[in-house]
Amino acid sequence: MKLLLIGSGGREHALAWKLAQSPKVETVFVAPGNAGTAQEPKLQNLPLKSHQELIDFCRREQIAFAVVGPEAPLAAGIVDDFRAAGLPIFGPTRAAAQLESSKDFAKAFMARHGIPTAQYQTFADAAAAHDYVAAKGAPIVIKADGLAAGKGVVVAQTEEQAHQAIDQMLVGNKMGDAGARVVIEDFLQGEEASFIVMVDGEHVLPMATSQDHKRLLDGDLGPNTGGMGAYSPAPIVTPEVYRRAMEEIILPTVHGMREEGNEFTGFLYAGLMIDAAGAPYTVEFNCRFGDPETQPIMSRLDSDLAGLVQAALERKLDTASAEWKAQSAVGVVLASAGYPERSGKGDVIEGIEAANRIGKVFHAGTATDAGRIVTNGGRVLCVVGLGDDLAAAKRQAYRAVAEVSFPGMQYRRDIGDKALR
Ligand code: AMP
Ligand code: GLY
Repeated sequence: MKLLLIGSGGREHALAWKLAQSPKVETVFVAPGNAGTAQEPKLQNLPLKSHQELIDFCRREQIAFAVVGPEAPLAAGIVDDFRAAGLPIFGPTRAAAQLESSKDFAKAFMARHGIPTAQYQTFADAAAAHDYVAAKGAPIVIKADGLAAGKGVVVAQTEEQAHQAIDQMLVGNKMGDAGARVVIEDFLQGEEASFIVMVDGEHVLPMATSQDHKRLLDGDLGPNTGGMGAYSPAPIVTPEVYRRAMEEIILPTVHGMREEGNEFTGFLYAGLMIDAAGAPYTVEFNCRFGDPETQPIMSRLDSDLAGLVQAALERKLDTASAEWKAQSAVGVVLASAGYPERSGKGDVIEGIEAANRIGKVFHAGTATDAGRIVTNGGRVLCVVGLGDDLAAAKRQAYRAVAEVSFPGMQYRRDIGDKALR
């Protein structure tokens, strides 16, 4: 069968690569894809973007089903449009994707269903928001309500920073419409982990656990980014934390959405904050797979991903199971100079083939220029290593990273260290 995968990042390279490993799959079209998906066996880039063009393509090519990588097309209703055209697609509808596209929607939903998360209030009025911060004190967290590509959250250590963030979002309009309302919530202490599951509307199939590294620099310093590296599994998610995350967060979310007539289908990502007593709280929901979590997680998946998606589309996830390699995986993101403020374009990347002989290089912001692979974005590559334990996976990842170079390349040296301590 032929499949369509929508998106162009490292997550999409990893999902398409895994889908293509299915013996049932002949071709995975990636729209629009990147220089990595252009080179991969059984993958083919497709320079289409509009929902209508993609729908026409799926009809013409008899695509068995589509899978959506990023949040933007989901929030724009691509699943609704495909379903209206009678085409199978794996992802949430626009209404269900509000779990990610509106922080206020997600917080109110969690409050209705008793799902553990930080206490909050939502504001459109700056004066009321300032009063709330003055009453609450710092540290406190200010979040733009809408999608802001990872830039909409300010963890304010002082009241001053909180007031500033409120003014930037509500008065200065820094985030545009996404910041027309802000969620202000209590600061949660603990360690973060990514808990990602597949949902068919009713049943849940958990993916392997992982941990992202959001800050730019070693030791979790510097600005927040889209994610500088991830590893799987995450030992912080002990069997007890896993059980609690499923029972207290994931299942109530899936059942609650269904009860409200807003069924969730697709990948559901709960960002967890695990406190010192091992209690998981929901920091955020994403309505898609994580990037860069996908790259190490897919590197560990032994099951046929296309088969799992098919089971989900048939509402049979309760009969499916996912097999994971016992090995650990570490993924290191190589970013361009100036990231996350700016992103590079056109710098020639060397050493990808050599790195691929050691680990697996997933492309994100890359393009092809006169036969050479060049940078084309902030996060350029994610290099994954596997090993019998996390330390061995880390060694393999960094041996592969050492083969790659491009002008201004920056990366963290400490991916996985939190779990090694
Ligand atoms: P979000 O986009 O909501 O995941 O927020 C981005 C990052 O900000 C998270 O990964 C956390 O590191 C941090 N963060 C968000 N909300 C809180 C909170 N209530 N308490 C502490 N840190 C938070
Ligand atoms: N790695 C975090 C995210 O995908 O949102």
